[in-house]
Amino acid sequence: MRIFLIGYMGSGKSKLAKALSEELSYELIDTDNQIEAHIGQTVSQIFDSKGEDHFRNLETKILSGLSEKDNIVVATGGGLPCFNNNIETINKGGTSFYLCHKTQNLTDRLFLGNEDRPLIIKYKDRTSLHPFIKINLKRREKYYFQANFILNGDQTIDSLVADVLWFKNQIGQ
Ligand code: S3P
Repeated sequence: MRIFLIGYMGSGKSKLAKALSEELSYELIDTDNQIEAHIGQTVSQIFDSKGEDHFRNLETKILSGLSEKDNIVVATGGGLPCFNNNIETINKGGTSFYLCHKTQNLTDRLFLGNEDRPLIIKYKDRTSLHPFIKINLKRREKYYFQANFILNGDQTIDSLVADVLWFKNQIGQ
């Protein structure tokens, strides 16, 4: 089985992927980390030196390589499902879970986070970050909602893991 976690930046995909990989003894894959290891640059450096389109093509390449693996849990970059028909590739190759949050919640989570995220680096306060997320999330939701299952992201990791295991059981995997 291949489990893909999709959702906006800051939605908790990496944490949940780690917990699931431990629970299921699946290999943990983080597409941002894979790209960084492959290219030898951070995501921000790739955005700066080669631009976003180049980064999106790298994401698509990494995604297509995953079809050769099994028993994996994949934390995808927040934009990955929204470009190059990647959501179709995801749903053909595995089972997808959308870690769904409201704009306000994402704003709070991202504002607290100190990770390196080139798309939001310029929004230095909640008042400017909130409208960006609102518009960007709205655009992306049409891809995110194509996930096989929707998870309420505003839960503890333990209950998110329990939800994924329940859905997994429902589809007989
Ligand atoms: C992005 C999300 C990031 C990373 C890049 C672009 C996006 O991953 O891929 O900064 O477009 O939403 P996370 O969702 O892990 O932050």
